[in-house]
Amino acid sequence: MDIELSRIGVSLPENLLDKFDVIIKNRGYSSRSEGIRDAIRSYIRYYDWMNDIKGERVATITLAYNHKQRGIEDTLGNIQHKYLDIIRSSIHLHLENDYCMEVIILEGDGEKIKDLSENLVRHKGILHVKLNTINPTEI
Ligand code: NI
Repeated sequence: MDIELSRIGVSLPENLLDKFDVIIKNRGYSSRSEGIRDAIRSYIRYYDWMNDIKGERVATITLAYNHKQRGIEDTLGNIQHKYLDIIRSSIHLHLENDYCMEVIILEGDGEKIKDLSENLVRHKGILHVKLNTINPTEI
């Protein structure tokens, strides 16, 4: 069966494309298009996985940021104060070059946990946001 292909044009910052090219070379993709198709598939898989997070969950969110960036700690604080009912604890690690890592430990409604994670992802200064969840009834 032939799959119809659509052609798209995408504008990217050069450093992002450089990093992507290194990865697709290391992973042995035959072309940039193949790498981009795979990246989109994994983006869709991630989105589907996110949609499955429902009901009671325990979770962690790991993130990083540069604490010298103006307003970033205020923003992080403001976001987390909105989710007091699901945040159980957080761990802060000071890293080199003004970076900080934070691990937020959560328990509660999956939808709300996801909502917090999405809020953090959307913020430009917050980097490497990674959500992990466990369904406590299926351990
Ligand atoms: Ni710090």
